[in-house]
Amino acid sequence: MKKISSAAVIELALDLATSLNTKDRFDRLLDTVRKTINCDAVALLSFHGDVLKPIALQGLSRDTLGRRFYIKDHPRFLALCQSKSPIRFAADSPLPDPYDGLLIDRDGDLPVHSCMGLPLYYDDNLLGLLTIDSLTPHLFEDIEVRTLEVISSIAAATLNTALLLEQLESRAAHSQLVVNELTEEAWKRDGGELIGESPTMLQLKQELDIVAASDFNILIYGETGVGKELVARTLHQKSLRQNGPMVYVNCAALPENLIESELFGHVKGAFTGADRNRAGKFSLADSGTLFLDEIGELPIGAQSKILRAIQNNEIQPVGQDNVEEVNVRIVAATNRDLKEEVGEGRFRADLYHRLSVYPIRVPCLYERVGDVQLLAGYFIEQTRRKLGIAQLKITEQAIAHLVAYNWPGNVRELEHVISRATLKAQARQRDKLVISIDQKDCDSLTSVRTDSASDLKVSNDGENYSLALFDKNISLNLKTETENFQRQLISRVLEEEDSNWAATARRLSTDRANLNRIAKRLNIKVMKSVI
Ligand SMILES: Nc1ncnc2c1ncn2[C@@H]1O[C@H](COP(=O)(O)OP(=O)(O)OP(=O)(O)O)[C@@H](O)[C@H]1O
Ligand SMILES: [Mg+2]
Repeated sequence: MKKISSAAVIELALDLATSLNTKDRFDRLLDTVRKTINCDAVALLSFHGDVLKPIALQGLSRDTLGRRFYIKDHPRFLALCQSKSPIRFAADSPLPDPYDGLLIDRDGDLPVHSCMGLPLYYDDNLLGLLTIDSLTPHLFEDIEVRTLEVISSIAAATLNTALLLEQLESRAAHSQLVVNELTEEAWKRDGGELIGESPTMLQLKQELDIVAASDFNILIYGETGVGKELVARTLHQKSLRQNGPMVYVNCAALPENLIESELFGHVKGAFTGADRNRAGKFSLADSGTLFLDEIGELPIGAQSKILRAIQNNEIQPVGQDNVEEVNVRIVAATNRDLKEEVGEGRFRADLYHRLSVYPIRVPCLYERVGDVQLLAGYFIEQTRRKLGIAQLKITEQAIAHLVAYNWPGNVRELEHVISRATLKAQARQRDKLVISIDQKDCDSLTSVRTDSASDLKVSNDGENYSLALFDKNISLNLKTETENFQRQLISRVLEEEDSNWAATARRLSTDRANLNRIAKRLNIKVMKSVI
């Protein structure tokens, strides 16, 4: 009892190592103290600036756990917190005992008794105290200093581990909440709802309901601006992984020399500039969804690396010897015809088959009978809110005009048309409370379809194109605008060349096969050349 035995130390070390949780660890620590030192009460308190908080105890009434001891109100605690070594208080010490009335074996004031405390330091920081009490006076006087030092060190290490674990757990829980919040935020910011009641959209929604809960990899395809990203987010929200992260990767924007590190991460020192370990997109998406947008743009070399990760559910960060397991569902999107890309050797067939376990086609806007009205209403309300307009309407005439258009830029184009039309309508009706969008506010549509270039001014020499002034409030998408431009330019030259594809290709300084491919991608109707 006077001297802690090595057997007791080893037993405690093993106990602590196999403890399942913090409570278990503290209980075992207190058990060992009681086995080593004959006492009636033992308590572990953690230090929080000016307060001590009991975190585990034996021999004291349970309500003690709820007490917060202000150090300056308790001279014994104050002395212990200011000491670097254990203090054995004299049996007749005049200092009031903070545990008066709290000992289970004793009602009322504490008589002359034994009391000592061990300040617990780790890295020179006071973490807390271990207090030991006995109703028998002078009991602690001949315990060896070495025994107390061993107990202090073990208790300090146990407390430190528990505090670290607590911190890590709360950080992990916090990170999880942040992920949920951001995923939810992105979802709400995009409106989150797939608008559309046309038969093709109803079918798409039904397909999403069926496939969302599975863990299949999904390939979403369709033309530009049809809502592929929104469909991908909807899939994640409806899936069992909805509380996990949805990580976005734009495959077209991945710099070729960094693709591996971006996707799989790297360890410190793996290459010049890798000054710390960095997790890749696959690890970040663990237990969630990895959205590989524009998958068709991925260079062939990177395709084989992704294939390996998908096949084996494991990744190898750059510069790391061993592989890591990941649990990720892949949702990919493209506006290319991947089958055709496979045929032409630009996309790996095996990756295509892995990704397209369940392909989902998002229909073009012109295939969605009746949806233009619904979507127009949806975007009108969104724009009204954004611009703080009290009431925003659209005339029947304007709606008819929108419905008649063929929407090569699909839903995104409609969204932009509504934004632009609202600004024009607002400028025309500055003094009005109710702003009404009229056909003339959307008139760019006719010019886009018939003579091709409304948003673009074509100079006399036909070579020097410059963008007309866009309103600063409208967000632009380089890819869509560029495609719109290509579409308009090709349509116009085709018209001028009487639908002669060879002549059009010559005028545009490209070969006919390439022009046909681009035209197909841009949904320009391919008519047979007459010559
Ligand atoms: N059915 C829909 N309901 C409501 N909003 C939609 C719908 N479809 C698309 N949108 C909106 O239209 C815009 C374009 O959609 P999204 O970015 O998902 O298209 P995309 O097919 O991924 O386009 P891209 O081919 O250019 O990548 C977004 O602002 C999106 O919120
Ligand atoms: Mg997209």
